[in-house]
Amino acid sequence: MDKYAVFGNPIKHSKSPQIHSAFAEQTHQDLIYRSHKVEPGRFAEAARSFFGNGGKGLNITVPFKLDAFTFADELSDRARRAGAVNTLARMDDDSIYGDNTDGAGLIRDICENLMWEVTDRRVLLIGAGGAARGVLEPLIRKRPRHLLIVNRTVDKAQQLAADFADLDDVRACSYEALAGNHFDLIINATTSSMTGELPPLPSDLLSDEGCCYDMVYAPEPTPFMRWGAAHAAWAVADGLGMLVEQAAESFCIWRGVRPQTRPVIEMIRAGM
Ligand code: ATR
Repeated sequence: MDKYAVFGNPIKHSKSPQIHSAFAEQTHQDLIYRSHKVEPGRFAEAARSFFGNGGKGLNITVPFKLDAFTFADELSDRARRAGAVNTLARMDDDSIYGDNTDGAGLIRDICENLMWEVTDRRVLLIGAGGAARGVLEPLIRKRPRHLLIVNRTVDKAQQLAADFADLDDVRACSYEALAGNHFDLIINATTSSMTGELPPLPSDLLSDEGCCYDMVYAPEPTPFMRWGAAHAAWAVADGLGMLVEQAAESFCIWRGVRPQTRPVIEMIRAGM
């Protein structure tokens, strides 16, 4: 059977094995998918061993997406832009192809599952770390009316905006400078929800049809989702759909078939 895995640390709570097993069953693909905890500094060794033993593909999660970027022999354009790789595939000539499906997963969840608009909308991206960088290109390609990046460390937001300036006019600012602006879509790409925190957002940020998307997922609404609900957001969502969609995109790269995501999102949600 073809072997796939997700590498990360920690990895115990990863939902990827469950998601990919569901995809495999649904599309009648014969494969096994496991999770594997990799020790810090050991990514290349572990990946070499995996592929050397016949492994076909890997997903890569925190904290190894940069290691995977360096490990790949060849990169997709979107992975190069993201500066990170979440999907590795062994090609017919045994070379390793690196891609990043996070941004595509986010856009699919927002535009197709949730049916929220991005094109011509005012979009605020909160955070300027790896997660924000990973989704910027597909977001820009949806042609929002404005795209603003806000971050605690403003330099990082400015750098990020500059790195994508050839694609569109992306702006960056501090939390204080947000006052008086209104957005139709706010995406939280910070890690604040993982620590139960909330970025310091002014209260009148949402437009009448403003939606809030937290890239983090949890059984309970995150602090950012609760903020959205308390400020009359038109809709709020967590990142579970993004997780399943980025997995579907990886599955498609490996197997050449696109699984249906909705039943899998529902299955994972029911088990949370
Ligand atoms: P990731 O790769 O998951 O994006 P990261 O690169 O460590 O992780 O980035 C974390 C992001 O969350 C950063 O944008 C960080 O802001 P700073 O760059 O100013 O540190 C943001 N972040 C984390 N905790 C936060 C909080 N409580 N409030 C606001 N922003 C927060």
